[in-house]
Amino acid sequence: MKKVDHIVSLEVYSSAKELNEADLELLNKAKEISKSAYAPYSQFYVGAALRLKSGKIITGSNQENVAYPSGLCAERVAIFYANAQFPTDEVEAIAINAHAEKFDVSHPISPCGSCRQAIAEYEIKQKKEIRIIMGANTGEIHVCSGIKSLLPFMFNEEELKND
Ligand code: THU
Repeated sequence: MKKVDHIVSLEVYSSAKELNEADLELLNKAKEISKSAYAPYSQFYVGAALRLKSGKIITGSNQENVAYPSGLCAERVAIFYANAQFPTDEVEAIAINAHAEKFDVSHPISPCGSCRQAIAEYEIKQKKEIRIIMGANTGEIHVCSGIKSLLPFMFNEEELKND
C-alpha cells in the first residue's frame, strides 16, 4: 500500500477589487444574470457566466421545478447552452455568483457535484482547463485554474475503453 496525497490549490481574493479585469467582468455578468433565476422554492438565486474563446459571454441562472430534481443549476444551464449553440468554441472560464432573499450570501459559491462533473466533461472535450471563479454577494472570491482542484480523482474516460 502507498498513500497518495492530492494537492488542491485555490486563489483566495479578499474582494472583487483584487480580481483581474476579465475575471471581474465575468463575475459581474454572473451577478447580473442571477436576477433572472427562477427559484421560488429555495429563494437562492444563482448566476453563471462563461467566457468562450471567441470572446462571447454566455450566461445562465438556476431553474427550479415543483418536482425538485427536475430543476437545474445555473452552471449547467449556461454550459449546456454554450455547447449547444457554439459547440466548437472553447470555454475559457466560468464565474458563479449568488444572492438570497433571507440572508447574505457571503461565502463563495462552489459548484455542486453534478455541475463539477459537467464542467469536467467539457474540459475533456476541449482538452483544456476551464478557469472557475467562485463569488458571493459579499466576501471572498475563490478562483481555481481548472476542475481538477474541485474534483480530484475524477472518473477517467479511459476506464470505458476495454480493448
Ligand atoms: N444551485 C446552483 O444553481 N448552483 C450551485 O452551484 C449551487 C446550487 C441552485 C440549485 C437550487 O436551485 C438552488 O441553488 C438551491 O440549492
